[in-house]
Amino acid sequence: MARANPFDRFARFYDWEHDQYLVDVDLHVGFARRFGGPVLELACGSGRLLAPLARAGFAVTGVDSSGPMLERARTRLAAEGLQATLIQQRLESLHVDGVFRSILIGLDSFALLIRREDQLAALRAARAHASHDGRLVLDLANGNLRGASEPPEELLHDLTMPDPETGRPITKFALRRPRPSEQSDELMFFYDEQDERGYLRRSMVELKLRWFTRFELELLLQAAGWRADEVYGNYDLEEFGPNSDRLIVVATPAASG
Ligand SMILES: C[S@@+](CC[C@H](N)C(=O)[O-])C[C@H]1O[C@@H](n2cnc3c(N)ncnc32)[C@H](O)[C@@H]1O
Repeated sequence: MARANPFDRFARFYDWEHDQYLVDVDLHVGFARRFGGPVLELACGSGRLLAPLARAGFAVTGVDSSGPMLERARTRLAAEGLQATLIQQRLESLHVDGVFRSILIGLDSFALLIRREDQLAALRAARAHASHDGRLVLDLANGNLRGASEPPEELLHDLTMPDPETGRPITKFALRRPRPSEQSDELMFFYDEQDERGYLRRSMVELKLRWFTRFELELLLQAAGWRADEVYGNYDLEEFGPNSDRLIVVATPAASG
């Protein structure tokens, strides 16, 4: 049975929140410039990163399991007259034509794979789609530092901003429930908005995100035929340290993989 993807239900809210989130764009465009195209973005969602990659002139393929997220990617790319191949698939069973020099998994998307077998399956599938000189870039939160400055188990006001589609404000509340023994965080997001008649509408989304330590991630990559060559701690590509915001790894196909 197909597993439900929470992004199907909050594609609109994802874009409302992330369309102006641009801090990682130069990072991925920079990696694509360094490693070359074609570019494969895994878990590409609504095309937030695909669009600037296509705009920079790369042949881009985006894979995501959410139809509504891909639909938004299609609309975003078409609005700018940009070309990209969009494919609806799960990362664990990825199978697309061709091999790629740059394979990117941005913004914590790999953390949506909770089970080790799914993490390994996705990394192995990515490996099978890498050219001999290809690279895999993984951008994850560093360990359990995600949201650690905010109190857990409390419903916190996160953001109030107008909905670009209706002009009416949307307010987001978030609750984080750490599950330390599972190395995961359960997140609940509530989006409150008024409909056209003024009635309050509340939408709720639950997500679970795994967190990884540097050496765990390196071992997973190794088990899947990759070698972690570079590890960075933020989007300025500064050295990784225990208090880094991000865990950004660049991996190369291992010789025996
Ligand atoms: C945090 S969003 C990232 C979207 C985009 N890369 C960005 O940076 O804005 C994560 C995406 O992963 C997708 N996703 C989650 N689990 C997946 C899976 N098993 N296979 C493929 N895509 C998946 C979701 O549908 C969602 O679009």
